[in-house]
Amino acid sequence: MKFFIDTANLDQIKEAQDLGILDGVTTNPSLMAKEGISGYDNIMKHYKFICDIVDGDVSAEVIATDLEGMIKEGEFLASLHPQIVVKVPVTKEGIKAIKYFSSKGIRTNCTLIFSAGQALLAAKAGATYVSPFIGRLDDISTNGVHLIAEIRMIYDNYGYETQILAASVRHTMHILQCAQIGADVVTSPLSAIMGLLKHPLTDSGLAQFLADHAKGNK
Ligand code: G3P
Repeated sequence: MKFFIDTANLDQIKEAQDLGILDGVTTNPSLMAKEGISGYDNIMKHYKFICDIVDGDVSAEVIATDLEGMIKEGEFLASLHPQIVVKVPVTKEGIKAIKYFSSKGIRTNCTLIFSAGQALLAAKAGATYVSPFIGRLDDISTNGVHLIAEIRMIYDNYGYETQILAASVRHTMHILQCAQIGADVVTSPLSAIMGLLKHPLTDSGLAQFLADHAKGNK
């Protein structure tokens, strides 16, 4: 399973990269705004900073909602850096844009996926990734992880190569559940990745080993 980090925060991206487990980064306009990055030029520069830190794919989202605008923006984003994957919302125009990008060899991440039907259309159009937002489904009393399982089954039935990128991941259990189901990628905050390391028996066991070593080496 690939680990992506879902942030535009450069320090957190560096920390995950230094850990040696990072496969990519996802961003969106809200995450950019959270870091105070605004203005077209600054946003484009920020994508380049991110690409310089991480070795893998970096999702950069289009703002336009019409086909022509999405194509123009997406082509520019893709030209910024070979690691850029163009993030496109799963709308009617978005599906057309994904089909276009796919025919031009431009990789895409179809975002704001909340149903298996949307994921099926995105795969049919040739999306590289689909991003089902599992946390936001949980927020409205709908099991987000079940959606990952549904999409996995459909993609496996037909051999779609579109990768399932579980997004809106909020905690460690989301990561583990997605891994059990076979999501190709999980994008999450750094805190959820670091949470996977935590276990009190590891802490107490290590403390005991160090104490015993100290006793024997006085
Ligand atoms: O990857 C999508 C993500 O950024 C949305 O997360 O927590 O705002 O639902 P959240």
